[in-house]
Amino acid sequence: MFKVGIDSISSYIPKLYLDLTGKWAEVRAVEQGLDSVEKLLGKIKKGIGVEKMAIPDFHEDSATMAAMAVKKLITENDIDLNDVATITVGTETTVDQSKSMAAYVLGMLEDWAGKRYTHIGCPQVQFACIGATYGLEASLNALKADSLGKKYAIVVATDIAKYSLRSPGECTQGAGAVAMLLSKNPRLIELDPALFGTATFNERDFYRPNYSKSAVVDGKYSIDVYLECMEEALKNYMERTSESAESLYSKLDHLLFHLPFPRMAEYAAARIFSTLWPKIERFKAVAKELGLSNPANLVRSDRKGLERDLTKHPLFREEFSQKILPSLVLSRDIGNIYSGSLYLACMSLIDSSNRENVDLSNREVLFISYGSGASAKVFSGKIGKLYKEVMPGYAFSDSLRVREEDGLRTPVSMEQYELLHRGSEISVVEQKLENSFGVASLNPQIPLSSKFISVLQPKESIQKPENEFVLERVGCSESKEIVDIGYRYYKWVGEPVD
Ligand code: HMG
Repeated sequence: MFKVGIDSISSYIPKLYLDLTGKWAEVRAVEQGLDSVEKLLGKIKKGIGVEKMAIPDFHEDSATMAAMAVKKLITENDIDLNDVATITVGTETTVDQSKSMAAYVLGMLEDWAGKRYTHIGCPQVQFACIGATYGLEASLNALKADSLGKKYAIVVATDIAKYSLRSPGECTQGAGAVAMLLSKNPRLIELDPALFGTATFNERDFYRPNYSKSAVVDGKYSIDVYLECMEEALKNYMERTSESAESLYSKLDHLLFHLPFPRMAEYAAARIFSTLWPKIERFKAVAKELGLSNPANLVRSDRKGLERDLTKHPLFREEFSQKILPSLVLSRDIGNIYSGSLYLACMSLIDSSNRENVDLSNREVLFISYGSGASAKVFSGKIGKLYKEVMPGYAFSDSLRVREEDGLRTPVSMEQYELLHRGSEISVVEQKLENSFGVASLNPQIPLSSKFISVLQPKESIQKPENEFVLERVGCSESKEIVDIGYRYYKWVGEPVD
């Protein structure tokens, strides 16, 4: 019987970034009335664990990032799109309320390739940061059932994590896309689609109402919901796999978490370890010493307090450094990329291990996916013997070098950052509607009765696009000849395909 899983993985991270240890920290420290910038720097670097956040340019959105990641995936692996059954997009920052973003992505790839690929299915899956994982599970099941009719399925996770300026979430923004090629007998990671542990809670921890570009989040509460939902999914996984704490822990080499910020992995590891360790001979004494023999009986705040103590224990630090730390490296330099963040953690593990000359073949990895609102999935995978064919060196972390070090990344100034954060609102086409479709004016200066609509257009890019997909313009016609108001036009800027 054949195995299924991730054959190859690629990502796209916007070239612009904000350095959170520079001007941003100086300005925010003054605004917060702190007596020294060092306090804020300590919180950002140690308490949250980030240093840089990727920021999309004006010509970029979640769809262009997804198309960039898929283009990289297929060119690096020499894949003919005619062999791909589906391109599933997992996103929570979609570009249209109706149309699947995957259709826009397909259109961009067709524009670049100069060919049509009409027989590819293009769904979009939305559930905060876990959408891509639901897409992955469904695509793997289709592969396993041999019902795709083609060799490959692609799942791409893409998002722009955006919170209000000056909010506690501001330092946990980021942007990027990760594309995964799924196949039979995969080179990178084997996964068992029949054994995903799942939990769902109907929650208000984090959401983004239709009218808002930024997420609304109850920060501290969102951490509690993450931990509790994840614990439930782990229990479900252990029931489904009939694994005991002892057998699961002894076979696990690495744990990969959804990473809204790197420090979250420490909170999550403390929750997983406090659930498993009291049942494992080697760790029972430590759990008892810390008052964690029966963690499920503790109230939420007491348990969190004891888990904070656990994170300081030498045994925790040792296990954390081996099993988790290498997967956090990229997140420090990129920030939260929402649905792709778990898979970026996987790339980080491989990239960091290659840098340290550590061989990962046959290692067992536990994936812990989470999306607010809220749902968690736990599943395991085994790294393949041929994984170095897919990710041979540490090209990924090298690609994050800044321009002064011969890299591609460019820092933005504080002014450019705030301008980019406001989005394209400055460049607006006021369009008179000839007949109203019941669309409200987005500009509060214009009364609804005059039937005008503001169509937001992309502003001039901070960095000139080169060999990339761009959002060219947003349609604003509503005439007898053409209706395209609000429709997004993308194009490839660069060399045509060979
Ligand atoms: P906050 O209130 O600004 O931070 O919010 P804080 O005061 O709690 O400080 C954070 C940590 O820094 C604390 O550590 C401080 O002690 C420490 P802890 O007490 O927890 O161990 N600290 C310092 N450490 C060293 N030196 C210093 C220093 N000062 C303080 N000088 C929060 C933090 C994460 C809540 C905020 O950034 C936020 O709201 N972020 C957005 C929401 C979020 O990321 N939630 C995570 C779980 S939900 C999730 O992951 C889903 C999500 O990705 C969305 C989706 O699914 O779609 C968000």
